[in-house]
Amino acid sequence: MNELAPKDACDLLDADHIAVKHLFVEYARLAMAAPAAAADREPLARRICSELTVHAQIEEEIFYPALREVVDDPSLLDEAEAEHQQAKDLIAQIEAAPPGPAKDDLVSELARAIEHHVKEERDDLFPKARTSLDLDALGAQLRERQQELEGAAA
Ligand SMILES: [Fe+2]
Ligand SMILES: [Fe+2]
Repeated sequence: MNELAPKDACDLLDADHIAVKHLFVEYARLAMAAPAAAADREPLARRICSELTVHAQIEEEIFYPALREVVDDPSLLDEAEAEHQQAKDLIAQIEAAPPGPAKDDLVSELARAIEHHVKEERDDLFPKARTSLDLDALGAQLRERQQELEGAAA
């Protein structure tokens, strides 16, 4: 995919969802193929955690507040934010855990939690965003903040 192609807000966020899903699949593949080589999975674990942290932050700073202005039912956003908090708790545990089976279990737990959360974003939040928000303007804002945060983490 052309990285420079303009993406609207939902496309940009969903590209992140797909990218992190691939990282989770790769992590599970490595854990299955070479369980003892846990240290080899560390860079992938760090990447999963840092990409999800940036993703959650841009949603919380830009996308969710914009949606909050237009949804009839704010409990959808309350739930999404609570799920972000659960994911952040798991990410903190993963970052602190030494390589090994317990860490692998935490990564699979995070993968399941994110899959559930992403399904809700796709089913409940994106359709509302598509009918009510200026997705091109929001996409540009999300991209700019994402690049800023990725630059700060590098
Ligand atoms: Fe989210
Ligand atoms: Fe998301």
